[in-house]
Amino acid sequence: MASAKYETHEHDVIIIGAGGAGLRAAIEASNEKLSVGLVCKSLLGKAHTVMAEGGIAAAMGNVEPRDNWKVHFRDTMKGGRFLNQWRMAQLHAMEAPDRVKELEEWGALFDRTADGRILQRNFGGHKYPRLAHVGDRTGLEMIRTLQQHGVHLGIKVYMECTISRLLTDDDKIKGAFGYWRENGKFVVFKSKAVVLATGGIGRMFKINSNSWECTGDGQALAYLAGAELMDMEFMQFHPTGMVWPPSVRGTLITEGVRGEGGTLRNKDGKRIMFDYIPELYANETADTEAEADKWLAESTQAGGSKAKRTPDLLPRDIVARAIHAEVKAGRGSPHGGVFLDIATRRSAEDIKRKLPAMYHQFKELGDVDITTDPMEVGPTAHYTMGGIRVDSDTQESRIKGLFAAGECAAGMHGSNRLGGNSLSDLVVFGRLAGLHAAKYARDAAAPSIDDGEIEAAATEALAVFNREEGENPFLLHDELKDSMQKHVGIIRVEKELKAGLLELHALKARVGKIKVEDNRHFNTAWHQSLDMRNMLICAEAMCQAAIARKESRGGHARDDFPDQDKGHFSKVNIVSRMTKSGEMEISEVPLPEVPADIKKVLEEDSK
Ligand code: FUM
Repeated sequence: MASAKYETHEHDVIIIGAGGAGLRAAIEASNEKLSVGLVCKSLLGKAHTVMAEGGIAAAMGNVEPRDNWKVHFRDTMKGGRFLNQWRMAQLHAMEAPDRVKELEEWGALFDRTADGRILQRNFGGHKYPRLAHVGDRTGLEMIRTLQQHGVHLGIKVYMECTISRLLTDDDKIKGAFGYWRENGKFVVFKSKAVVLATGGIGRMFKINSNSWECTGDGQALAYLAGAELMDMEFMQFHPTGMVWPPSVRGTLITEGVRGEGGTLRNKDGKRIMFDYIPELYANETADTEAEADKWLAESTQAGGSKAKRTPDLLPRDIVARAIHAEVKAGRGSPHGGVFLDIATRRSAEDIKRKLPAMYHQFKELGDVDITTDPMEVGPTAHYTMGGIRVDSDTQESRIKGLFAAGECAAGMHGSNRLGGNSLSDLVVFGRLAGLHAAKYARDAAAPSIDDGEIEAAATEALAVFNREEGENPFLLHDELKDSMQKHVGIIRVEKELKAGLLELHALKARVGKIKVEDNRHFNTAWHQSLDMRNMLICAEAMCQAAIARKESRGGHARDDFPDQDKGHFSKVNIVSRMTKSGEMEISEVPLPEVPADIKKVLEEDSK
């Protein structure tokens, strides 16, 4: 029996998080004629999905007829340095085109080719122009479309509500406990199935592109409920965040700028990326400016291009490390980045039409006119490839009835995600999570929740009010961000990682002593204190896994192990779980065997 003391809602399925994955999961579960509740920390529509600007990757072949799911699958596996769960990458590549067409049917207004089909642009690591887009506001259009479609299906939306605990019966889900951000009152959700779609963890880094909601909530909730986290060492630093002015440092500059022909230059005006072409991409990457520009000019024209691709569109891990190296070598821009030039590459009219948000962003925030001047850019913590370990086909975690989709789930992207594969991930795996959560809920018994569990969750949440004196949660958050940036950043080394881990343990002890003043009404210090628990779990998992992986691969670069291992570490994922005594334990799990027909696809060169 849920306590009569607290507001209680009951649904067949609840979805926690209302970005692209959460909305798509809610739509699918609702299509199955079940009762669906959608809980979001922010206002509906204000999702971090809007920060994926440049497009959604799907092998539709509208601009380059040679494109198909197999090429997309290969690009994705190669971009992830083959640490991806192959089945997720396959499902993603096969289903993405249908998910884009569905968005169009539901009202998304994509940019068009001259003959009226959905236009597709170049992006890093994608062999062909593959990103369906709406200027540089694709994520925003997706959220608008999914929200508009979803609101007519009878999904019950709970806005500005934070979940602080999942409720389980041993290894089975039965609901969630949380609070209304506005008045601090507690709320209980009873549910046969739960889908986590809470997004990323970027707020634990000092320089990040993430919005305030991205505090690793889903990952931490799942971990505390007994699910496993996987691949947590892999953090994507997007190469192009703003570096100036300081108040907006880290804000994303879409890869679409380079997709439209933008080039990265150092302080001497030299195009930097020709010096950073790795062996893995050498065969397909131009080594002269002339060839790179020929490819850029021809690749979106009928017949495509036989030239090799521009190195400015190498995968993000490579580009981010190249910028880091240029700055370190003293060849950076005045504010510690490099220059991104679109002004000399496209007309002012083209820039304003294709990249309107970037034009306004720089005009308003940086007083820079990108149609005449270059941007200053540098790496920014953007996306985590790691997250909740799920079954590749159903998205179910090891807790029965608990599913995860989107950025908070692991497996699809391996060690490095290709740009544009996040938006397609959200709708492909959001749909699958919603579908399988509904199937599970249909056969599951109604959950029963006892008062003791709810009171324990309430006591935990209120502990910070009951101390005489203690730590300030905002200052602890600043310390966490500084520590992660310094010790677990873009280039890592064992000594630093171990120092970082010690600092995390010390911070954890201090978080247990936070004191919050005043009452529960919109108390941001209280909210911050609860977010700290989640960020620290994710930070510790990242740090421990980064120590364990003694190689460099994708979004995990070790100065002391600079090479990608061809042996042991090419065959394992690293998993974090909580022991019975509450400690974090990490282990290695073998990658699933790739079947012969899929191996063949990986080996084929595209015709
Ligand atoms: O650069 C961008 O527009 C970001 C896209 C993504 O992260 O997929």
